Amino acid sequence: MASQPSQPSLIVHGGAWKIPPELEADCRAGCARALAAGWQILVQGGSALDAVEAAIVVLEDDPVFDAGVGSHLNADGVVQMDAILMDGETLNAGAVAAVERIRNPIRAARGILEKGPHILLAGAGAERFAAACEIPLCEPAELIVPRERQRWEALRAQAPPSTLPERFGSTVGAAARDAQGRLAAGTSTGGTFGKYPGRIGDSPLVGCGCYADSESAAASATGWGESIMKIVMAKMAVDRVRAGVSPAAAALQSVHRLSERVRGSGGLILLDRQGRIGAAFNTPNMVYGYVAADGSLVVHV
Ligand code: GLY
Repeated sequence: MASQPSQPSLIVHGGAWKIPPELEADCRAGCARALAAGWQILVQGGSALDAVEAAIVVLEDDPVFDAGVGSHLNADGVVQMDAILMDGETLNAGAVAAVERIRNPIRAARGILEKGPHILLAGAGAERFAAACEIPLCEPAELIVPRERQRWEALRAQAPPSTLPERFGSTVGAAARDAQGRLAAGTSTGGTFGKYPGRIGDSPLVGCGCYADSESAAASATGWGESIMKIVMAKMAVDRVRAGVSPAAAALQSVHRLSERVRGSGGLILLDRQGRIGAAFNTPNMVYGYVAADGSLVVHV
C-alpha cells in the first residue's frame, strides 16, 4: 500500500459544537499547535501514526478541549476518557475506554496498538496496561479544571440532577497521510458532560469515532456519540471515498446522514490516499485545521 515518497497531509479537529466566542481564540491556537506538532514529524519523514499521536497529545494537554486535561465530568464528578488510534496500513487499532488515571489516553491507545493482542481495553485494565507500557499514570484530580468543576457543581445543584448529555462536542482528533502514503487516524475525548458513569461513546470504537485504511481514507468524528455509533460514521465516510466520492463530499454526505437518519449532531474530518481533505459538521461550529499546499497552517472555527 505504501507508495513513492510524496507530499504528506494532516488535518486535526477540536470538536463540533457551539463554541462560545470567548473560547474561539484558544480553540484556534490549540489546533494550530497540534498541526505544528504533527507536521514537524511528517516533514521529517515520520509516520502518519506518530504524527496523529503527537497532534492529539497536544490537544489532550490543552484544557480548552474535552480530552485529557479539561475533560468533562460525569454524573459522579469524575473524568472518564476514551481514545483510539488506527493504523491504515494494517487496520490494527488500539483503544482505551473509561480511563480515569491516564493523562494522555492516546498514548495508551498507541501502546495497545503496538503491543496487542487486544484492540480495546477499559477502565482499570487499560490503566494497568498503560503502566506496563511505561505510560505514566496521574491522579484523577489532575485532569479536572475549574471550569469543568463549576459546571458539574451547577449540574449537581439541579433538582433532580440531570444525566442527559447537555454539552458535548469538543472531542479532538486527527488524520494524517505520511510521505510513504500511509494513513492513520485517532480520536480522544472526555465524552459527554454529566454522562452516566461507565458510559462509553463513539470515540474509541473502530468505525464509529475513527477509521483509517491506506487503500482509501482516514477519518475522525466528533459530536453526540450515541448518534454517531448508530450510523458507524467514520467507516461510512471512508467507504464513500473508496467508492469514488471526494473527501469533501464524503464528509458532507456522512454528516447529512447523521442529521437525517438519527437526528444526530456532530462533525467529521478526513483525508484520502492522495492527501485530499474533507470536513463537515451540522453544529454551529467545528474547529479544525489542516496544512495547505504551501505549508501554511489553516484553522477554521
Ligand atoms: N463523541 C464523543 C462522545 O460522544 O463521547
